[in-house]
Amino acid sequence: MAVSNDRLLEAARRTIAHVKADTVPLAETIAKVPAEHYLDHDRWLSELRSLFHRFPLVFGFSCEFVERFSYRSTEVMGVPVLVSRAADDTLRAFVNVCSHRGARVVAEGAGTTRRFTCPYHAWSYDNSGQLVGILDHDQFGEVDMDCNGLTELPVLERAGLVFVGLNHEGTPDLERYLCGYEEMLEHLGLADCYLTGQQTVDGPNWKIAYDGYLDFYHLPILHRESFGADLCNKAIYDAWGPHQRVSAPDSSALRLDQSPESQWSIGALTSGIWTIFPHVSIASFHVAGPNGEGGGRMYMVSQLFPGETPDTSTTTQTFLTTFEPTEEIRPFIEAQQRFLLKVVRDEDYATGFLLQRGLKSGAKDFVMFGRNEAGGQRFHAWVDRLVDTESESEVLALVDEATYEPQI
Ligand code: FES
Ligand SMILES: [Fe+2]
Repeated sequence: MAVSNDRLLEAARRTIAHVKADTVPLAETIAKVPAEHYLDHDRWLSELRSLFHRFPLVFGFSCEFVERFSYRSTEVMGVPVLVSRAADDTLRAFVNVCSHRGARVVAEGAGTTRRFTCPYHAWSYDNSGQLVGILDHDQFGEVDMDCNGLTELPVLERAGLVFVGLNHEGTPDLERYLCGYEEMLEHLGLADCYLTGQQTVDGPNWKIAYDGYLDFYHLPILHRESFGADLCNKAIYDAWGPHQRVSAPDSSALRLDQSPESQWSIGALTSGIWTIFPHVSIASFHVAGPNGEGGGRMYMVSQLFPGETPDTSTTTQTFLTTFEPTEEIRPFIEAQQRFLLKVVRDEDYATGFLLQRGLKSGAKDFVMFGRNEAGGQRFHAWVDRLVDTESESEVLALVDEATYEPQI
């Protein structure tokens, strides 16, 4: 992790220099995004096809699959997905559809088992997806057990995150899509975290919602009553292909500057929002126990999924702590979780729904991303590039050639 560690240090030094000089890096120009790009049904379908059914999606977390034979089954954008830790400790992902007549083999949920038995006619599969049992096989007829297992999906476990690709014919090498960003994410320490809670919130069009996660400009305005009154509204965007870290050139950088680099904590070095294109944001908070004591760092990982129409989405918020939560601190963690649900639902997404209705009125042909909103500009540029790219090989060429782009 030497290179990624150097990048964290370099980013912190750069941020300190900006704060001292009272400067912030800016994009070249203002960018305009057509309002239609948020509304048009065909455009939305091509985004699903070219982004969500191609890029690795965060399915879950390593801490959910610690035990051998652990599994979780859920639907991801209409695809029933089963992820399981197999006998050889590798993580495997499958389309949760029975080879007999297509029933859903494993009900929605999680657990530990060595056999998945279809509820329709009891065909069974092991954790590597192999078909291992056919009821009344001698009467059913000849079936090649080796060729009729569960359909495998590409899966990747990195940085404590479990990524799944929804295209079973896509490249099994999901790491290529991460452009080296996974090494940066390792520094968050998610693999050693404790999952403390999960909740979902309905939102507007997925890009309207996602714009908000890249946007610090709104923090002291929209969130002034809840948490943002004193927050910095400037942002520095560092990119690994389409994946971006957003950090604020705020007074914490000056505090960091008062200690030698050897004492800079990993918490300070990894501050800000870490987004994973096209649908995840990782934010961190400090949570303390009674009298402000105990506790530590808590992450909110937001997984944003387009809904069934262009103007809907669903976000799953997962909370992870870097410390084992005690009974004393749990109520404080739960209060923080409730607070964050309320902020996102009543402030971010409530605004997003109104914005969406505004765009639907047809009053504006385009929206703007300022020079201070380089992250939103980059996000939309990547979406544009990818919806115009038909084949997976062309997309892989794009991500393979993407380099680390610090915002200087
Ligand atoms: S559909 Fe699964 S056993 Fe028949
Ligand atoms: Fe917000």
